[in-house]
Amino acid sequence: MDAVKLRRALARTRLARVAAFPKRLATVARHDAKVLRVSARWLVASREHHNYTYELTKLSRSHLAWFVSVVCDLPVKQVREYLTEIESDDELRRHIASATAAAVRRGLADKQVRYARRIGWYAIVRARRPRHIVETGVDKGLGSCVLAAALLRNAAEGHPGRLSSIDINPEAGYLARTAPWSEVIDLIIGDSVESIGVLDRPVDLFLHDSDHSRGHERREFEAVEPKLARGAMLLTDNVMHTNVLANHAERTGRRFLAYRETPANHWYPGDGIGVAW
Ligand SMILES: C[S@@+](CC[C@H](N)C(=O)[O-])C[C@H]1O[C@@H](n2cnc3c(N)ncnc32)[C@H](O)[C@@H]1O
Repeated sequence: MDAVKLRRALARTRLARVAAFPKRLATVARHDAKVLRVSARWLVASREHHNYTYELTKLSRSHLAWFVSVVCDLPVKQVREYLTEIESDDELRRHIASATAAAVRRGLADKQVRYARRIGWYAIVRARRPRHIVETGVDKGLGSCVLAAALLRNAAEGHPGRLSSIDINPEAGYLARTAPWSEVIDLIIGDSVESIGVLDRPVDLFLHDSDHSRGHERREFEAVEPKLARGAMLLTDNVMHTNVLANHAERTGRRFLAYRETPANHWYPGDGIGVAW
């Protein structure tokens, strides 16, 4: 019996998985060694302990452009220009780098300025020109600055807007307290569901990025529903962990789509952007 015939005969028996074990082990070991290498490098080089920052892989950035193009019904070329716009905003980069270096929590923040999927938030704001954005969950204020940068560009083109950024932690948002970005941001300290309940302006774009428990995410979307302007768009940063926004979209007759980001050179598997519109 030749080798091919022997392999085929073996594949039909219970011994097949034993024979394949060395090859399978080598594949898993190669994969795990890569994860270990990246993790070890990160443990030494990074200071972050949550809300990690990273660049997207080239492919993931390209898919993000197409994702925004579909949900905003805009040519992908235009979306790519928006992505490049925020990535080459040197004034914002300098501000984030210097505010991070001066911050009380600087020992737990990296010096490099990396936006990950937030460049997609930027492109969505540039595309839709909302008059009022609500972001729940601010942390350092990186996302708030990115959203504010988009609002400032929109304003320069004759489409002004404001951002209500809500966080329960009074120390949140230290990056978002500097002009010109702070001029379009209303930083609200309090529980997000309670704070949404007292909003007094219609909301054009809503982003959930606070307490990522299923119940809290659901309560935020329920609380914001009566506050929404006609045709408002809902985003969630929690789309890799729950189906809350998809369920909300189904209940309220909206479309839903999810993008999964892939971080470059990072052990973290990444988050995503869920959109209902
Ligand atoms: C993932 S971080 C926000 C990240 C931020 N959007 C960004 O772009 O970097 C989550 C934040 O939600 C806040 N948070 C947790 N529970 C909350 C609640 N019930 N209401 C408002 N904010 C809350 C936390 O204090 C934390 O700063």
